[in-house]
Amino acid sequence: MNVIEAIKQRRATKQFDSKFILSSDQKKQLIELVLENAPSAFNLQHWRPVLVEDPALRAQIREIAWDQPQVTDASMLIVLCAEVTSWQTKPQRVWEGATEQVKSLMTSAIDQYYRDRPQVQRDEIMRSAGIFAQTLMLAAKGQGLDSCPMDGFDFDAMAKLIKLPENHEVCLMIAVGKANTEPYPRTGKFDFSDVVKVDHF
Ligand SMILES: Cc1cc2nc3c(=O)[nH]c(=O)nc-3n(C[C@H](O)[C@H](O)[C@H](O)COP(=O)(O)O)c2cc1C
Repeated sequence: MNVIEAIKQRRATKQFDSKFILSSDQKKQLIELVLENAPSAFNLQHWRPVLVEDPALRAQIREIAWDQPQVTDASMLIVLCAEVTSWQTKPQRVWEGATEQVKSLMTSAIDQYYRDRPQVQRDEIMRSAGIFAQTLMLAAKGQGLDSCPMDGFDFDAMAKLIKLPENHEVCLMIAVGKANTEPYPRTGKFDFSDVVKVDHF
């Protein structure tokens, strides 16, 4: 499937076929595709996806997610978290392989950009998470799979359930599997003239 088709066909799936199973390898390959190719600011790859495999944990998550059936019925469930301090803990690692000059330039730029700017640090992880999620959902669609991005859950309760470490945030969940219903027609989309401004608001 080409990328335009994948964009057009991706829908937020509400009902997954609980009998449809992705193998561990299929899940790993899908996630690896995203890890290796999705963009992130300064290549910091702030994302820390938690792949939820334990059915008992899925059931607990469903309880704190408005009882949404995607949580237990989709074959793959990712709680997408991110490390807020990746600018501080990983700047050398993410420029491994670059020349010493590039490495030194980038690590100093990273430090200048994030240091003492908590709002920027948090904004960046959310931007990266959004891009990770959309890349994953389009990759899934390209493989004939369906998905749902989800933030309908209690974030504090989620942090406890997945034992979220310090300096990390929960960003959103992504469910991936096979839909067992047809999507509703798309509704209420803004068109170009509703939302696009040229040069200024
Ligand atoms: C950040 C985010 C959170 C969302 N949370 C949920 C959710 O908790 N449950 C759900 O069924 N859909 C959720 N959605 C899906 C949206 O409702 C859906 O994308 C929107 O209505 C447009 O429909 P479409 O994706 O099928 O085009 C979420 C979407 C985004 C981007």
